[in-house]
Amino acid sequence: MTAPLAVSLAGRDLLCIADLAPAEAEAILDRAVELRADPKQPLLQGATLGLYFAKHSTRTRVSFSAGIAQLGGVAIPLTPEELQLSRGESLHDTAHALSGYLDVLAVRTHAHEELEAWAEHASIPVINALTALEHPCQALADALTIRDRLGSLDGARVAWVGDGSNVLTSLAALGDLLGYEVVAACPPGYESNSLLQATVTDPREAVAGADVVVTDTWISMGQEHERTQRLHDLAPYRLDDALLALASPDAFVMHCLPAHPGEEITAEVLYGSRSAIWDEAENRLHVQKALLTLLLAA
Ligand code: CP
Ligand code: NVA
Repeated sequence: MTAPLAVSLAGRDLLCIADLAPAEAEAILDRAVELRADPKQPLLQGATLGLYFAKHSTRTRVSFSAGIAQLGGVAIPLTPEELQLSRGESLHDTAHALSGYLDVLAVRTHAHEELEAWAEHASIPVINALTALEHPCQALADALTIRDRLGSLDGARVAWVGDGSNVLTSLAALGDLLGYEVVAACPPGYESNSLLQATVTDPREAVAGADVVVTDTWISMGQEHERTQRLHDLAPYRLDDALLALASPDAFVMHCLPAHPGEEITAEVLYGSRSAIWDEAENRLHVQKALLTLLLAA
């Protein structure tokens, strides 16, 4: 059984990592560990989770769907093209109506401002399932994966190499809450649009002595038209065995997936013995279940 909740996020939104206090982020990770050990507790019997996804998704969509089912609730996919929204109904009216049917809504879309509009007009908790700006559910799974492997987040040294993506922005912001340090190596012009603790341009400098090395696709959803330029500019930032050799001898690798072997990461690293990537993907399920139980105060 899960322990009584010391922290409640009842009725809140999770739009970005800054919406969380350090104790709240820790409570999500602690609860995820409890739920991972005992996954089929019906803590959210009858709860309804809407999944409004305006972008592709494998992990986020399925982990939210499986997670709410394991908790005794149901996920309702809301394909944008199937909603009256695509025929001109306002987001305001859609959010208002959906709030009468759903207990919680997860939104994946392009502009972060659109997510904020969903949160403003919905009276139920809204979860960021990825925008161009942040991917907080991914960061929570990443922090759990690091904590699982190192035993503690305090003082952990995380190196990021490649594009300063939405995933980096959330991972670094969560580090500020939970005590790990992120050093990012990004080419000029590809830095995270948030203030990071440390950004360098040389990937070797970021990786030297790191406990964890993380990367992400070079071409995020919505950037497909920049493909040629991005492949050129990011090529020196590929995570390969030679770069990984500069990290701590016990260092491991994370990637939010989907991966593009031969682009941001080599197949040797992606599928190698130092990859924590598949545990990381599974942890999406556990942290999102924890988040749902805290938002719905079960
Ligand atoms: N990492 C992640 O969010 O994966 P999906 O795009 O498959 O949901
Ligand atoms: N940065 C990537 C993450 C995909 C999970 C994107 O936004 O497409």
